[in-house]
Amino acid sequence: MTTSKIAFAMPKFGLGTNKVGGHNLFPNLKDEDGYAVIRQALDSGVQLLDTAFMYGKGRSEEIIGDVLQDYDRSQVIIATKGTQDPARGFKPNNSPAFLTQAVDDALQRLRTDYLDIFYIHFPDADTPKNEAVAALQKLKQAGKIRAIGVSNFSLDQIKEANQDGYVDIVEDNYSLVHRGLEKTTLPYLQAQGIGFVPYFPLASGLLTGKYSAEDGAKFKQFSAAQYQQIMTALVQVRTIATAHEATVAQVILAWYMRNPAITTVIPGARVPEQVVANAAARDVALSAAEYAQIDQLFGEF
Ligand SMILES: NC(=O)c1ccc[n+]([C@@H]2O[C@H](COP(=O)([O-])OP(=O)(O)OC[C@H]3O[C@@H](n4cnc5c(N)ncnc54)[C@H](OP(=O)(O)O)[C@@H]3O)[C@@H](O)[C@H]2O)c1
Repeated sequence: MTTSKIAFAMPKFGLGTNKVGGHNLFPNLKDEDGYAVIRQALDSGVQLLDTAFMYGKGRSEEIIGDVLQDYDRSQVIIATKGTQDPARGFKPNNSPAFLTQAVDDALQRLRTDYLDIFYIHFPDADTPKNEAVAALQKLKQAGKIRAIGVSNFSLDQIKEANQDGYVDIVEDNYSLVHRGLEKTTLPYLQAQGIGFVPYFPLASGLLTGKYSAEDGAKFKQFSAAQYQQIMTALVQVRTIATAHEATVAQVILAWYMRNPAITTVIPGARVPEQVVANAAARDVALSAAEYAQIDQLFGEF
């Protein structure tokens, strides 16, 4: 395994915060729950918070910034993202001028003077990706960001962005039921020492085991046969979980933490109870045989 290019230690476990202040993305969110989720995470020793401008158009970052005033900033890795340009109807803008302003705006909302990771959230249609990343490299040299990330980039776009070797970390959709990146992108990232953070690790709750056979219509990305296959696999995962006195979600999260291709797993949480439950996955140590069994159970995805 190559060493990661990231200049600081990345924890295996973090928190996804799109349900913290993400009123534009999810119905019926309460700001008070968002504040409680962040406090609970920091009180539980969660060391990385993954946010973005798009989560509440700045609201998620503001909530995190408020809470951080009561904690030691140096103990938390803050990852945020930007690209959605209000002047383009919130479509992506990767121009150097826009990204430079986006970082300054994020610093203000987060009430901090540096971002540990800044991701270009989505590629735009026209900016050469190495030019976009070169703008972030300048911000890194200026001390405003510590690591450069890209998200939702194809492998070709990642390679273009990484022409000068400046990309430190990639975030993309990956889970045990969405494994397409394993054949293409993940080997490139590992060879280059670029970190990888999967989003939707719990497949938006499906991999917690809380849904049943009747809920298939909620997950339209899967055919009826695939959904049935996931339900069957989760029965086996539950057996492993019982042996560890753990939950299905904890075992699934422990699988990612044991996976050498994954830098940090960032399950999202709507309420503090989910933070506590998920953070306990750090205590679940899967054996090599259990790791391989889970790998195989979801082998066709
Ligand atoms: N870069 C990108 O473009 C991008 C895109 C998407 C997400 N992300 C990031 O990735 C993070 C993770 O993705 P995600 O949060 O969308 O999906 P996820 O981690 O797959 O699922 C999180 C959701 O599952 C449910 N859940 C979590 N823990 C649970 C538990 N212990 N028991 C029962 N239900 C539980 C909660 O939803 P309910 O309670 O509502 O069921 C929670 O919001 C996000 O928070 C965000 O930071 C990035």
